[in-house]
Amino acid sequence: MTEHAANTRPATSVVSLGRPERSTGSSLNPAISLTSTYVGSAVPQSGDRVYARFSNESWEPLEEAVARLEGSLVPALSYASGMAAVAAAFSLVPIGGVAVVPGTSYNGTIGLARQLHAEGALVLREVDPTHIDETIAAFEGADLVWLESPTNPLLDVLDLPTLIAAAKQRGATVVVDNTFSTPLRQNPLVLGADVVVHSATKFIAGHSDVLLGIVVVTDAELRERLLGKRTLHGAIPGPFEAWLALRGLRTLAVRLDRAEQTAADLAVRLSKRTELSRVRYPGLATDPGHALAGEQMSGFGAMISIEFAGGEAAAERFVESLALITPATSLGGVETLAERRRRQPSEPVEVPESLVRLSIGIEHVEDLWADIEQALAR
Ligand SMILES: Cc1ncc(COP(=O)(O)O)c(C=O)c1O
Repeated sequence: MTEHAANTRPATSVVSLGRPERSTGSSLNPAISLTSTYVGSAVPQSGDRVYARFSNESWEPLEEAVARLEGSLVPALSYASGMAAVAAAFSLVPIGGVAVVPGTSYNGTIGLARQLHAEGALVLREVDPTHIDETIAAFEGADLVWLESPTNPLLDVLDLPTLIAAAKQRGATVVVDNTFSTPLRQNPLVLGADVVVHSATKFIAGHSDVLLGIVVVTDAELRERLLGKRTLHGAIPGPFEAWLALRGLRTLAVRLDRAEQTAADLAVRLSKRTELSRVRYPGLATDPGHALAGEQMSGFGAMISIEFAGGEAAAERFVESLALITPATSLGGVETLAERRRRQPSEPVEVPESLVRLSIGIEHVEDLWADIEQALAR
């Protein structure tokens, strides 16, 4: 790979990182290596490729690029899905150890933590991370602290610098799920976190056509530990998926700029509608997370959550009435998606029944607004 340091601006780095070494006739893009094994030698040397569950050259450009964007010089590790990356981070908790996890974390994350607790693999302390003193009190004796900001789908903005510092002081490993912010809007490792997790399925890959997870750390020993576990657990990404995610990353800056601009505009328009009882978007000056987001993020993201004054039925009717916007779960793609989150039984009860999450894509803002307006009118 090129020795390009991410000392260019992020909009440039997403384009230039993870390219093959430059020489006359060399390929501009990394190759997709479709192999399960590598030719061996009688006397294996350290660093030799052996088997494609251990290492695959198709993962490395993506792993290098995302690490640099997060401010780490240690290559990231890619996984078969965001949940595989989440599970890898939880595997750092020793058997019977204590994990502090917000009850309003992404439903897969809190679901996994509860399952591990029920099986006796760890002791789960659930917290409301917007109550900062109680949350910090729960860090006492914890092995791992999980943070996600903004949260999915409540869009609560957590005080990351304060929470990370408090958890580190108490000796916990701090994991931050940075999926909603992307490496272009927030860098938790730079704020002192030990581990960053991404569902690259979302904004990084950006086209709703691939599942992939990424774990980034700054500590080389911690990476070795995680690499050993990934090799044995086997939740590796396919070479084509890694290639697609890197291809998606190339346009992350322009996609996110556009989607974020549209989200900011739509959030203001939505906040004037009497059909809605609440609009959650950290970019709104009235949002409880606005000031914090302004301090720790370099943009407010492309996710909006709206709550309907008419309750669950009104929310359902809205989603069903959308014509351009697709009713679907997931987020971070070029197309705008809407979902009433509580339709999923696994969604935390803290999420209101009437809440619809909007993942804003890159369509023209006026076409999106026209669709939202006609659906609100129903
Ligand atoms: C914040 C967050 N983390 C993790 C995940 C899990 O990612 P994946 O669906 O790629 O397994 C998701 C999926 O929606 C998510 O929103």
